[in-house]
This record gives sequence, C-alpha cells and structure tokens, in this order.
Amino acid sequence: MSPNDKQPNAPRKLIVLGSTGSIGTNTLDVVGHLKGTSHALEVVGLAAGRNVDLLIKQAREFDVKHVAIADAGLASQLKEALPGVTVFAGEQSALELVQAVEAQELVAAVVGSAGLPATMCAARRGMTIGLANKETLVAAGSIVTPAIREHNAKLIPVDSEHSAIFQCLDGQQGQAIKRIVLTASGGPFREATKEQIQNATVAEALNHPTWDMGPKITIDSASMMNKALEIIEAHWLFDLPSDKIDVIIHPQSVVHSFVEFADNSILAQLGPPDMRTPIQYALTYPQRLEGCSRYMDWTELSGLTFQPPDHDRFGALKLAYEVIDAGGTAGAIFNAANEAAVDAFLKEKIRFGQITDLVAQALSAIPARPVDCLETALEADRQARDYVNNTVKKTVLM
Ligand SMILES: NC(=O)c1ccc[n+]([C@@H]2O[C@H](COP(=O)([O-])OP(=O)(O)OC[C@H]3O[C@@H](n4cnc5c(N)ncnc54)[C@H](OP(=O)(O)O)[C@@H]3O)[C@@H](O)[C@H]2O)c1
Repeated sequence: MSPNDKQPNAPRKLIVLGSTGSIGTNTLDVVGHLKGTSHALEVVGLAAGRNVDLLIKQAREFDVKHVAIADAGLASQLKEALPGVTVFAGEQSALELVQAVEAQELVAAVVGSAGLPATMCAARRGMTIGLANKETLVAAGSIVTPAIREHNAKLIPVDSEHSAIFQCLDGQQGQAIKRIVLTASGGPFREATKEQIQNATVAEALNHPTWDMGPKITIDSASMMNKALEIIEAHWLFDLPSDKIDVIIHPQSVVHSFVEFADNSILAQLGPPDMRTPIQYALTYPQRLEGCSRYMDWTELSGLTFQPPDHDRFGALKLAYEVIDAGGTAGAIFNAANEAAVDAFLKEKIRFGQITDLVAQALSAIPARPVDCLETALEADRQARDYVNNTVKKTVLM
C-alpha cells in the first residue's frame, strides 16, 4: 500500500516539520480544530530546530510517538521528558523522521533550505505535502517537481498567495492563463525612501504591518525578497514562465492573489490575513470545512487599494525574474545568499540595504549550472553561503 492510500475512516497520519514555528503552531491549531471531523488527522511526527520546551508540549498534547530536533545537544532533554517516544537528533533529524515514519500527509514548515532534504524525501515517498517552506522549491524546484510527479505525490501550497492562485486556477493550465498576479503588502518600508530602507534597523524591519510571522520571512517581506522567492515558487508550482508572473502592492492583505484568464476574466481569492485558512485548505483539499481562522467583517473594511511595485527601491523582484531565466543552480544560490545575508542583518553585521546587494553579488560571482540531483543544489547552497559569509567578514559598518 502506498502512503497515499487511505484506510476507510482511519484518521490520516500527519508529520509536521517546523512544528514550533509560526506555520507549525498554526498547523497544530488547525489539526486540533479538525478533530472529530471527516478530516481528522493523527500527528505521528514533529520536527523542530531548537525550541525543545514547545516541542515537548506539542508531543504530549498530540500524543506523538516520533520527534526530531536539529540541535543534537537537546536530544537528552527530549528523551527524558518523553519516555517511549523515538527521538531523532541532529541536522539530518527531520529527514530521518520522514524516512522512518509512515504517514500520508506532511506539512513542510521548516524555515530555509534546511527543509529541502526532508521534503524531497516526502515527495519520493508519495506523500501529500502542504508546502509552506518556499525555499525548498526556490532552491531545487527542478528536481522536487519531477519527483512529485514521478512518485504520485501531491504538492498543495500553504503560502497564502499560492494557495489563492491554486484555488483560482482550479486545474486550468497553459494558454488559458494570461498571467497570475501575486499581491504583496509592501511590508514596513512601503512608503520609505531608498536611504531609510538602506539604513533600517532590525526592529523596524521586523515590524510587519499585516502578518505575524517568523523572523526570517518578516525580514524577507521588508526587503521584498519574500515576494521574489514567491515569484520563483510560483514558477515551479504552476509551471509558468517569468513573463506570466506579476506582483502588485496591496497594503490591506485581503486579496491574497489573482489570476487573469485568456478570456479576460479575473478570479481572486480573499480573506483576512490569517494563515490558518490556507493551512486548513491544504489539509482538507479538495473539501472545505468550517474554518477556525478569523472571519472577514466587510463593514470594517474601508477600501482595497493596489499599486505597482517600485523596482528601484526594491531590487529583489528583478533578481527573481533573472533567476528563473538563468535556471539551474541560480535558485539555490539566490536563496542561500539571502538566508546568509538575513542572518548577518539580524546579527547586526550588515545594513538592511546590503541584503539585496549581497544576493545580487553572489548571483554574479557564482556561475549557475544544471541541477541534476539534490547534492548539486545543496553544493550551490553551501557555495553561496560561504560567499556571503566571507564578504560579510570583510564588511566594516560605519
Ligand atoms: N509565517 C508565515 O505566516 C508564513 C507564510 C507563508 C510562508 N511561510 C514559510 O513557512 C516557512 C516557516 O516560516 P515561519 O514563519 O513559520 O518560520 P519560524 O516561525 O521561524 O519557524 C521555523 C520553524 O523551523 C524550525 N527549524 C529551523 N531550522 C530547522 C532545522 N534545521 N530542522 C528542523 N526544523 C528547523 C524551527 O524550529 P525552532 O523554532 O524550534 O528552532 C521552527 O519550528 C518559511 O519557509 C516561510 O517562508 C511562512
């Protein structure tokens, strides 16, 4: 029996990677909400990075028998607190968990390309993957998407923009689609000058106007790198060329994205900014069940506004289109350079404006080559991180 075959009436078995993060905790909220419904889920595995206390709490609450922690030094604490539970520990622990545990469903919510090997394994195991971890597709879309097809797995987007496009497309492909338009809140620096953006502090960059998310994606939203990653994610998810993927600034974050079709009709998906909606949709697809997310009170909404993005102040978007057109390892270089630069910014080693500059430099300095296997993508990822980390070491902040 393949992991995707369901036994009648048995709850589907779910693994949550990145369970202690923003998407992970929202996923477990949705799982709690779905208890007792036709889409009840049994959580059989949880993976996290370092937050051992929350992982222990989650494992107890959901009676989970397999847990993974990336920080190997925390394994003994887990084992002591969770007798009878199998503990995987170390950088490969999420991958080992997915290899060892039988499950039909997986939510990929690790932050960064650290989530790639485990998600790739889930694809090879034919699982249904709710994908929040966009960095996986950006870094290795050219091997992840064929693996999904080859192993009869399913990839359901959790990112709100891609969930919106997925719902609007409803299976339409090719010439039927004129273009897709990803909405962007514009982040905290939507109205800021180039100079203010260049020198923004960590606190300013972490102050997102509409979404409550983990620190890395919040910084990505401020630099528009998040939208750049989403452009590349959309390219792989919906098999669209770069000239059919557009971005529009929509500060209210109510229209989550839209599709323009060949006949000039436009379909959009709307809702309050609450990730539990796309998470639940990914877990119950194609059915819709009573939601646990916020309800949209239309009387409180004063207006929906849209404006084109400013490519001069936010150079990340242009890079995304170049990455799609370059292909090969360009995605892995782009993503890893950004991860390393964001890390350096959060540690106050570089200015905010240098994030995009460092990513552009890494793309110019490291030649892209075809991605034939996972190791090629991971090698490009390491190269780009080394490039950025070495450049940061030479940076002197005035
Ligand atoms: N937050 C959102 O609203 C949102 C929306 C759309 C898409 N996404 C995407 O979803 C992903 C997660 O975002 P987030 O905001 O939930 O991030 P987050 O709050 O920072 O959570 C990241 C999760 O990954 C875990 N983790 C980190 N390194 C790991 C490793 N090496 N192995 C296993 N687990 C590891 C963390 O564990 P510890 O906390 O225990 O260290 C945490 O559980 C990102 O790819 C992001 O772009 C997020």
